[in-house]
Amino acid sequence: MAPGAFEAGPRLVAGRAHPALAEAVATGLRVRPVPAQVERFPDGELRPTAGCVRDCDVYVLAPTGPPVNDNLVELLLLLDACRRGGAARCTAVVPYLGYARQDRRSHDGQALGLRTVADVIVAAGADRLVVVDPHSSAVEAVFSVPVATLTAVPVLAAAVRAGAPRPGVVVAPDLGAVKLAEHYAALLGLPVAVVRKCRLSGATVAAEELVGAVTGLAALVVDDMISTGGTVEAAVQLLLRRGAAPEVTVAATHGVFVGPAAARLGPLPIRRLLVTDSLPRAEPSLPGVTVVSVADLIADAIRRLHGGQQLDDLLVRS
Ligand code: R5P
Repeated sequence: MAPGAFEAGPRLVAGRAHPALAEAVATGLRVRPVPAQVERFPDGELRPTAGCVRDCDVYVLAPTGPPVNDNLVELLLLLDACRRGGAARCTAVVPYLGYARQDRRSHDGQALGLRTVADVIVAAGADRLVVVDPHSSAVEAVFSVPVATLTAVPVLAAAVRAGAPRPGVVVAPDLGAVKLAEHYAALLGLPVAVVRKCRLSGATVAAEELVGAVTGLAALVVDDMISTGGTVEAAVQLLLRRGAAPEVTVAATHGVFVGPAAARLGPLPIRRLLVTDSLPRAEPSLPGVTVVSVADLIADAIRRLHGGQQLDDLLVRS
């Protein structure tokens, strides 16, 4: 085999974090995923085996959602297994990247979590990273290897357009979501309003100001992720106080749904809540959630990366 050449076809290695998404991506690629064997020792250590990957162009699919640290370590060990197994190139496909919100330090003495996570993913053997709508563009800046930042906004916007209620304004629930809101707004032909949010703790936020006209309008609140639901709850309550119609749509790429998420979101007048399958469904007690798949998006990206093609139309707008 010539140096730099690959065994035919991309090789998809699936961790245990999200087997259903791995199956769906494999179907889109028309390949069989290589399911990793992961042994757990009595003390909690993991020992994954990635299967035969020698000379292959390998894509390790492993979102690092909850339990974040276990899934992160499994990803790292899978990358190492692939590298030691002779993979010709190894791409970490991490649709949801845990620790992405730790992209800056707010106090002296704090860790810079994203930077450390980026360093260990690269050190473990990733030649490239694929993510979907990460918390901020800092992800690309902190990784020392190429990053393909895919966006689920077009598939989520299409799902919004296909259902009811029909929103009249796109709302960014904090300043960090403005670019995302502008992307939805451009696709749906809607104006944008912006909430100024103040984070009081990991689970508590306050929505302080609203810029933009919302009176009488059905709002589409958009965000990269819903974790405890505090951001969406605060935004929706502020929208209602400012006269928005009590028929809100919420679209977020990553439905993490931890802690009080169901209790916070359940009582709100949210008519539709759309998330993607970047993470396995974690909150069965929250009714009315529509899940839109990113499997085709990821499969398309892998196909193009393997073939050396451009990804431009799949990427987050900067
Ligand atoms: C933070 O700025 C993110 O974009 C999300 O708004 C936030 O992480 C959502 O978390 P939660 O649902 O806990 O408010």
